[in-house]
Amino acid sequence: MNTRRKLVVGNWKMHGSRKGNAELLDGIAGARPFGCDVAVCPPFPYLAETAVALAGTDIRWGAQDCSAHEQGAYTGEVSAGMLQEFGCRYVIVGHSERRAYHGESDQLVADKAKAALARGVTPIVCVGETLAQREAGETADVVKRQLAAVIHTLAHCAGEIVVAYEPVWAIGTGRTATPEQAQAVHALLRAQLRAATGSRADEMKLLYGGSVKPDNARELFAQADIDGGLIGGASLKAADFVAICRAAG
Ligand code: 13P
Repeated sequence: MNTRRKLVVGNWKMHGSRKGNAELLDGIAGARPFGCDVAVCPPFPYLAETAVALAGTDIRWGAQDCSAHEQGAYTGEVSAGMLQEFGCRYVIVGHSERRAYHGESDQLVADKAKAALARGVTPIVCVGETLAQREAGETADVVKRQLAAVIHTLAHCAGEIVVAYEPVWAIGTGRTATPEQAQAVHALLRAQLRAATGSRADEMKLLYGGSVKPDNARELFAQADIDGGLIGGASLKAADFVAICRAAG
């Protein structure tokens, strides 16, 4: 286990309801204190209520996406400035579901990360290969290309981001990467970050995401370059999410 403080982030994706969220947040907040940093990323409409529910706790919140633009005629988009106004500490950018279903390019993801940082919101930049890419031996090339666009665009600010390695084949499938598979990619990513940011890379948080559950979290989080998790399905049940946070603490 490394000495960086771990971070566990719940990505609720398009799940939730006002009543269900209140119960979930109650369950998480009631289980404090955690020995790690904890955040939840609900859908946009619930951010205000999440902020109220978590006020006075050390649990943070964030969003699942933001626009690359500051403001303007971009129907349906939400700016980083708006997220900042609602107290978002984080915003997930470049999730594989957005890359796949919304055609987001590496450059667009990089521009979103830049827009977030400009508003003081920490982008959680997701990278990850598909099953076909892994089987073709392209994992390293794919994740390095995805991260390179962000490093290039952010330049000296690249050290300010959180990176999440989420192999697409492990998301929502119950098929998690082995700790060794995940660690191997995290080590690559940290080396790439070190080349760009120097020793800052040793303080950066690199999260793993993809079928993290209470029963596999501890072993994943024990790897040298894994600094926590980005949790999908298991973040929707307080008991599971809390157990994962405990595994990180
Ligand atoms: P699951 O934990 O449901 O596999 O989702 C992972 C993910 O995509 C988090 O962003």
